[in-house]
Amino acid sequence: MTAHSKKPMSRTIESHLEESRIYTPTAEFSKEARISSMTQYRKMYRESIDKPEIFWAREANELLWRQPWSDVLDWKPPFAKWFVGGKLNVAENCVDRHANGSRRNKAAIIFEGEPGDRRVITYGELQREVCRFANVLEKHGVKAKDRVLVYMPMIPEAAIAMLACARIGAVHNVVFGGFSADSIVDRLEDSGATMVITADGGWRRGKIVPLKENVDAALQRYDKVRKVIVHKRCGNEVSMNSNRDLWWHDEVQSCKSTHQAKAFDSEHPLFLLYTSGSTGKPKGILHTSGGYLTGTYSTFKYIFDIRENDIYWCTADVGWITGHSYIVYGPLANGATQLMYEGAPNQPDFGRFWKIIEDHGVSIFYTAPTAIRAFIKAGDHFPAAHDLSSLRLLGSVGEPINPEAWMWYQQKIGGGRCPIVDTWWQTETGAIMISPLPGCTPCKPGTATLPFFGVDAAILDEEGKECKANEGGKLVIRKPWPSMTRTIYGDKTRFRKTYWSDYPGIYTAGDGARRDKDGNFWIVGRIDDVLNVSGHRLGTAEVESALVAHPAVAESAVVGRPDELKGQGVCCFVTLKEGHDSSESLRRELREHVGRTIGAIAKPDDIYFAPALPKTRSGKIMRRLLKELVTTGEISGNVTTLDDIQVITHLQNCIKV
Ligand code: WTA
Repeated sequence: MTAHSKKPMSRTIESHLEESRIYTPTAEFSKEARISSMTQYRKMYRESIDKPEIFWAREANELLWRQPWSDVLDWKPPFAKWFVGGKLNVAENCVDRHANGSRRNKAAIIFEGEPGDRRVITYGELQREVCRFANVLEKHGVKAKDRVLVYMPMIPEAAIAMLACARIGAVHNVVFGGFSADSIVDRLEDSGATMVITADGGWRRGKIVPLKENVDAALQRYDKVRKVIVHKRCGNEVSMNSNRDLWWHDEVQSCKSTHQAKAFDSEHPLFLLYTSGSTGKPKGILHTSGGYLTGTYSTFKYIFDIRENDIYWCTADVGWITGHSYIVYGPLANGATQLMYEGAPNQPDFGRFWKIIEDHGVSIFYTAPTAIRAFIKAGDHFPAAHDLSSLRLLGSVGEPINPEAWMWYQQKIGGGRCPIVDTWWQTETGAIMISPLPGCTPCKPGTATLPFFGVDAAILDEEGKECKANEGGKLVIRKPWPSMTRTIYGDKTRFRKTYWSDYPGIYTAGDGARRDKDGNFWIVGRIDDVLNVSGHRLGTAEVESALVAHPAVAESAVVGRPDELKGQGVCCFVTLKEGHDSSESLRRELREHVGRTIGAIAKPDDIYFAPALPKTRSGKIMRRLLKELVTTGEISGNVTTLDDIQVITHLQNCIKV
């Protein structure tokens, strides 16, 4: 059995209340910042809430529109249209606008591969590559609104593929390279994709992730894909189906490096990104063009306070929303220079990130608390061996950052001088919603602080009343915002039910939170059946359905438990079918089975074989009790609805084994 600490995380509600350290930006930082005082923030925030249409029109007007909008917003809850009637091309905004102007020879992407290979791509070159690839897509019959699945390593071609889709109005669906063939099939089927863009492989911890092989396995079960374009990254052997598969380098060679970009409606679909929910089926979150680009552009500009000479680095993967909004669309819409790194943080050792920062002079660094905790564990000597003085701003995303990790980040990486922006947002929100502004917001370690402009965030109780200071409740957004998801692809009913049914006309995020007396938002974590494992969302129901698909498993219940490194660990209770016995080898097999079915991030940390699961008289599994059991080792909560009280004793014995 895996040993793990049962120590509760320090990000509990109690410790939030205790936190009284306050950090304000240095006068030097504030002086140069776009938003340099709280008075300025409050004034702009007020305007953005009272007159959102004026605020957002001003932001959107900094982008290039081919046709002006007639109305800023058309709001028929829960369906929003932003910049109605306006037309633009998203790729033109991210690339051509800079390439045709003074940023032609400015680096757009500085790439470092895991083996150490490096490339610099200027805006001018990016324009040529995106145009070439847009021509390739069109040559193979991809049309506006067609869905294209992108399954790529973290290399510039991932961004080029996404931008080429955007350029021709095709809808990209990026699937994280760590997901399995089964997960690819689910997404192909749900989106109805007709083209796949992938690579032979990608480097991760010195090994090759067999991307093309996974695509081949997926396409045995889905026959609507006409073409697969394969970028040669690792040179590993792959099988090429001559009717279907094409090499990227062959295709671009025969295509022109110029391409006439059409303008698309502001509400034209830009991408689908699947995320976990409370059922076994991931949701296809749909984002559209004008509003999404305005939201990512504006948040990137103010929250990272981007400057012409900054070297910005976000360590997320393009397969997640952070990679979409803060590797591709936000930074490129701002004409920023960014670093892109392919591989793992500990390849060859935990000094890799710090070496990259030193080598490339990174000035803004955006990562996840789970990575920070892994670095703390690895030891201070890794960052101490590198010159990190180029850094001026740090960011955190994906899960609540515990105060210890915040302090370490601030001291050991930021040298005590860099502000930290702890950014709260979601796949569904498209852009950052709650975050400090680095030039003015006083920060307490562990809080994402205050809402961004135009974000009417609040915490409500069950009756819909706003909670008092420090009272816990549900985090909601009361007004529409430009980068909000427009729907769940093909399932408006689920869209309404999931996000808009708790309180009329109000978006429920699925997170529990509280606000302190200064108005800071402290995010406690998910209150639905979604886990946050190393900053990645994972539905407990997805893991359960993977487990019950195994021939030995009768029933399963999955809950999260605190984990010092990953935030939450995946903890599974399993009952076996007649004729199957629990054993260490079955436990291993089930772990691998879940990894194969969903992806490595879903591999269970603990599997307990139980004679029965706790159920109500109507047969519903009481996950609440299991969660309590794995968190505290006991059950003190209400058990009156439990059908068979004996089950508890059995379970307690199971977890002690
Ligand atoms: C969690 C990632 C606390 C939260 C951008 C949310 C956070 C979920 C933070 C969305 C943060 C993200 N502090 N919790 N700064 N950022 N979360 O869709 O539970 O992958 O609902 O988007 O991550 O995860 P998603």
